[in-house]
Amino acid sequence: MSLAIASIAVLGTAALIYWYRNRDKPIKYLLRELRYTLDMQGAGVGGLIDDWVNIRRNKIVLPDAKKKIAVITGGARGIGTEVIRGLLKANMVVIMGIRKPEQATKLKDTMENSENLHAFELDLQSLKSVKQFADNVLIRYPEIHILVNNAGIMFGDFQLTEDGIETQLAVNHLGHFYLTHLLLPALKKGGAIEESARVVNVTSCAHYPGTIYYEDINMKTYYDTTAAYAQSKLAQLMTARYVNKLLSDEGYRVKCYAVHPGIVNTDLFEKSMFKKLFPWAMKMFFKTPEKGAISILHTCFDKDLENKGGMYISNCIEGISNRFSKNVEYQKRLFELSCDMVKIDSQNYGKGM
Ligand SMILES: NC(=O)c1ccc[n+]([C@@H]2O[C@H](COP(=O)([O-])OP(=O)(O)OC[C@H]3O[C@@H](n4cnc5c(N)ncnc54)[C@H](OP(=O)(O)O)[C@@H]3O)[C@@H](O)[C@H]2O)c1
Repeated sequence: MSLAIASIAVLGTAALIYWYRNRDKPIKYLLRELRYTLDMQGAGVGGLIDDWVNIRRNKIVLPDAKKKIAVITGGARGIGTEVIRGLLKANMVVIMGIRKPEQATKLKDTMENSENLHAFELDLQSLKSVKQFADNVLIRYPEIHILVNNAGIMFGDFQLTEDGIETQLAVNHLGHFYLTHLLLPALKKGGAIEESARVVNVTSCAHYPGTIYYEDINMKTYYDTTAAYAQSKLAQLMTARYVNKLLSDEGYRVKCYAVHPGIVNTDLFEKSMFKKLFPWAMKMFFKTPEKGAISILHTCFDKDLENKGGMYISNCIEGISNRFSKNVEYQKRLFELSCDMVKIDSQNYGKGM
């Protein structure tokens, strides 16, 4: 009883302090923030339970990919590094898109088959940089077999990129949306009847509480960083589904998937309250980056996924995704809006125009 009273007192005090510090903000936005914070904790706990229940599924036997070509964004640290290690072990030629290509040299010292690792500069906060990276890749690799849209950021203050796009949306969704458009002609060449080329969007269970703010996608009216992360991860999932459908309707041998790597102990949590409050819990309860990479590698290689394009994968099986993400009308609306934002004609998406 006394514990319950003490908990209510602590929560009540915390709520009062929170309200006092944000008393200038309209109450409807404060309530929305509170809902997102709670829902995000729920998604995180759900993700942790999913990881524990399905821990045994995180196993992979890597194939011999016979020097096929993989492109990955990010990877100088975090889960991406371990995905690259796996791709190289599987005898792939790997092209990294990273902000500081010199970091690839350090990485090579720790990797098997490192002569097959190449890096070009890519800053997903800049559409110009995305175009430059795609040009660098396409001139050397006209056929691509796997694209892993891995790089990501989480949380932080409201900021717009040089293209006027909210940063989490720019890095997590729009930069990758544009890169996929630019590389699709090479992916179409890489896809074969017996083995389609694959686009793997690394999304998150954090998409679950998300929605798309179509009327204010940059969230200029009111910025909630948690809602912005959830929106960007939902957008990656919806894009995987919609672009997969477009390509399949047009008869191309390219499949798109979305994968949640698990709750993984990486620098991604640098700006989260969780890391500040419970840094020890991350080491104890979260997956290692090596384990986090397995679902992504599974999505790159598993033959049983060949006819399951558009799937959301978590712990190497179909994961639970939110209902909004499955609505084709919503997906189409996001696709059209994203095309507008990166200034391409939606009819020409992925057609090298
Ligand atoms: N960790 C988790 O629990 C978790 C859960 C669900 C989903 N994910 C997703 O998994 C992916 C990888 O995350 P992580 O956990 O490995 O995070 P991380 O350790 O923080 O790594 C993030 C990677 O993204 C790159 N990156 C950030 N901004 C970039 C930009 N503007 N241009 C190019 N690259 C940029 C970083 O490169 P720099 O070194 O240059 O900064 C780094 O390689 C993300 O998409 C994340 O949302 C992670």
